[in-house]
Amino acid sequence: MTYIDHLPASAKHDEIIKTHKQLQTWVNQNKKGFLRYRTPFEALRKFPAQHVDCNNDWVQIGKGDELEEAAQQEVKSHLRKFIPWRKGPFSIYGTRVDSEWQSHRKWQRLADYLPDMKGKIVADIGCSNGYYMFRMTPYEPEIVIGFEPSIQHYYCFKGLNSMAGQENLHIDLLGVEHLTLFPECFDVLFLMGIIYHRSSPVECLRQIFTSLRPGGTLILESQAIPGETATALFPEKTYAKVPGTYFVPTASCLKNWLSRAGFSGIDVFCQHPMSSIEQRRTDWMTFESYTDFLDPSDSSRTIEGYPAPDRIFVRARKK
Ligand SMILES: C[S@@+](CC[C@H](N)C(=O)[O-])C[C@H]1O[C@@H](n2cnc3c(N)ncnc32)[C@H](O)[C@@H]1O
Repeated sequence: MTYIDHLPASAKHDEIIKTHKQLQTWVNQNKKGFLRYRTPFEALRKFPAQHVDCNNDWVQIGKGDELEEAAQQEVKSHLRKFIPWRKGPFSIYGTRVDSEWQSHRKWQRLADYLPDMKGKIVADIGCSNGYYMFRMTPYEPEIVIGFEPSIQHYYCFKGLNSMAGQENLHIDLLGVEHLTLFPECFDVLFLMGIIYHRSSPVECLRQIFTSLRPGGTLILESQAIPGETATALFPEKTYAKVPGTYFVPTASCLKNWLSRAGFSGIDVFCQHPMSSIEQRRTDWMTFESYTDFLDPSDSSRTIEGYPAPDRIFVRARKK
């Protein structure tokens, strides 16, 4: 856990180390659910790449001609153990991993609004397989720490970075709830695709505010509902078939949450309707996707009859 040395004195070092050790003891058990993803990660470690390029939509790790055909196929078979691939796309030793989400579209929307990340301490909360962390590397942050409690995504990122060798990228099996261990630690914090999964969104934003250094920047992306009034949808059970969705705000509601959590300079820089161009079934994610989540006779409604989701992007500062 080399990231600990990069954190400022305000971090609760002892508690972070203790939590990390507990989680590692848990995940290192030889149980089926862990081995399922640990085994392909360990196999991928044998293929460090010479060529890595995180500047383009397809994050490239290794060129096809760096490996013999048999080794390429071996890498591909290990990569397929991480299906369903939610985030990407990646090009790995010639294998095109076309994920469910065209995550580069999200990155393109926020790229113009990024603060200076050179030499900064960055957190990506709910980082999934780290697609966005790889996209951050050209900005030369000192470190990026990905918080990700899912075993599948955790080992998928570790597998990818064991090949990509980006030493300033780290991941830990932490959740947003662990931010209390990181007071005034981060210069930049990404919270994307998370806030509508929190049952207490304002409390979550307060924790984020506390974990930012003075002058720090939050980049937040969320599902949202269209509308001018400061309201949030609270679904009965699921929203677009997704359980664990609590409050889906309008833009003005989200601005109010951020303001009440202490943020200033709140800038909603993009809002757009979701679409099946951006989230769809592929050979690397073969389950239901966006079109299955909508009312088949009215695409402006979810299958439950709620307004179909927008996506919204906000930048906010801690003074
Ligand atoms: C909707 S995805 C968003 C992924 C990515 N940030 C993006 O914007 O594309 C939510 C992610 O949060 C992770 N997650 C689940 N519970 C979490 C928690 N308590 N804290 C942080 N992340 C969590 C999930 O495993 C998943 O990778």
